[in-house]
Amino acid sequence: MTQDETYRRVQAQFGRTAAAYVSSPGHASGAELAQMVALAEALQGGEMREKTVLDVATGGGHTALAFARAGARVTATDLTPEMLRAAQTFLADEGERNMRFVVAAAESLPFKDEAFDLVTCRIAAHHFADPERFVREAARVLRADGLLLLVDNVSPENVELAAVMNDVERRRDPSHVLAYSVRQWVVWLADAGLDLCYLSRWWVDKPYREWVARARTPDDEGEALARDVLALPAAHKTYFRVKEGAGGLEALSHEAALLIAKK
Ligand SMILES: C[S@@+](CC[C@H](N)C(=O)[O-])C[C@H]1O[C@@H](n2cnc3c(N)ncnc32)[C@H](O)[C@@H]1O
Repeated sequence: MTQDETYRRVQAQFGRTAAAYVSSPGHASGAELAQMVALAEALQGGEMREKTVLDVATGGGHTALAFARAGARVTATDLTPEMLRAAQTFLADEGERNMRFVVAAAESLPFKDEAFDLVTCRIAAHHFADPERFVREAARVLRADGLLLLVDNVSPENVELAAVMNDVERRRDPSHVLAYSVRQWVVWLADAGLDLCYLSRWWVDKPYREWVARARTPDDEGEALARDVLALPAAHKTYFRVKEGAGGLEALSHEAALLIAKK
């Protein structure tokens, strides 16, 4: 798929589901939000007040909000204009009125070199047309000693399991491009001249009905996907923590990671 096709797919998907990403409990309340702020303070020394933060692919604006509440001056960007408008309304309702909002692709950030203390990007890079270019762009706009804080769903290192995960994700949401392994992210960070200084990973449960409803997966396709997940080999179902109840597929899980790298 070309970059333009990927962008159109993302804008179509998130243009029609913007409100659901503002209200999504998983996006609004992940424990990693507070961790990202605290770890940035710990690793850079000092408080967040007056730090400049670029939040890439801000979605509903939850990462931007966490850093703005800590006192940072936040610029929020997203490829999807409807999503950015929804984030702007949400953040204004939360009392955050001094933020900048810019429609921009993660792969070509319209900012000067060394313009930010921190770049954040949470639960979005698996939609990017060119994540490696995004990492290079993040490195470019960071000042010396600046930090990139990246959270994303990560694929298993095992190729077969990674293919299962990406297939399930793409059938639920056609704007999913690929979830990458931690190992892949570490290589891209190093190639961009960034030093990995923190890594954590955890499992994320996906209650199936809510998960497909948020992406507006058509009902018949959601039912077919549930049947196919339940028909996976037992070892795969164990790996992805598939939960089945009287009504069929109840939940499955995947891993996410937080990587922090310093320029
Ligand atoms: C799940 S939302 C992000 C969640 C948000 N960061 C948070 O912390 O709650 C994914 C977002 O990525 C954006 N996106 C996807 N591809 C992009 C790209 N190449 N450049 C910028 N934004 C992109 C989508 O428009 C969407 O708003």
